[in-house]
Amino acid sequence: MRDILSIGALDLLEIEKLLDLAAVMKQEGSRVDDHRGKVAALLFFEPSTRTYLSFASAAQRLGIGVIGFTDPAHTSVAKGESLADTIRVVQTYSEVIVIRHPREGSADEAAAVAEIPVVNGGDGGREHPTQTLYDLFTIRERHGRLNGLRVGFYGDLRYGRAANSLCLALSRYGCDITWIGPQELQPAPSVAQTVRAQANSATTAEFLEDALPGLDVLYVSRPQRERWPHSMTALIPPVTRDTLRFAEDRLVVLHPLPRTSELATDIDTDARAGYFQQVANGVPVRMAVLHTLLSQ
Ligand code: NCD
Repeated sequence: MRDILSIGALDLLEIEKLLDLAAVMKQEGSRVDDHRGKVAALLFFEPSTRTYLSFASAAQRLGIGVIGFTDPAHTSVAKGESLADTIRVVQTYSEVIVIRHPREGSADEAAAVAEIPVVNGGDGGREHPTQTLYDLFTIRERHGRLNGLRVGFYGDLRYGRAANSLCLALSRYGCDITWIGPQELQPAPSVAQTVRAQANSATTAEFLEDALPGLDVLYVSRPQRERWPHSMTALIPPVTRDTLRFAEDRLVVLHPLPRTSELATDIDTDARAGYFQQVANGVPVRMAVLHTLLSQ
């Protein structure tokens, strides 16, 4: 594996190896001698809290130095430099590049130019594969397996890249997928088609209350208003503690965060809330990603 650009490009054995290594990383916390003297470049052309900081934390726990930016307005991009030229330059300063960019396919463009590994930290509404790796890691921690689970996706499934990547992954584990929410926020046809072809089953539901009974996982995706067409006004009623009265005790509620109004804070103290455990898993999983890419 040279790059991590989409979850579909990893086979299930590669995913399992990364998750197993992440479990070791989680136990050990840090291994600063592993990659001392190497440098990771974090190129963030879009806002980020978790992805930027957890990659920076993961890198430093492996002894990797971090360079990068979170505001392209302060780089030569503002002077009109192309993505390809930015990558050609940055790869002479670093051993691995993590890129987040509003344009779909931008990470692939970067990888086509780069001679060092490239990780997709989110390209527009398309994919967010390392988010998916720690979503899978968290589901495996909670349920002890990934195979054959019943998983509901709720909210913005059209423009939410984290939800896209995760349902593409879980469909390969023979899961039953239910997409819940308004029609205009259902997944893009290309994603829905792939998931339907791979999953044990894939169905849609309009209301959460109808879909919740029997679910093992509920994955919530905030309204991605920054990518909505101007005319769009879809509503995503919040998941509350009250809504969860329709859910099983074994349900785990996940959310890539940041949350807005789609997920009420009154669930935070419910044993079924898994999103803070999920976000903490970002660091060991990204340690496993960086370690694997820099060890070959
Ligand atoms: C997600 C993203 O940027 O796609 N955030 C994250 O990386 N945890 C989800 C989101 O913004 O809704």
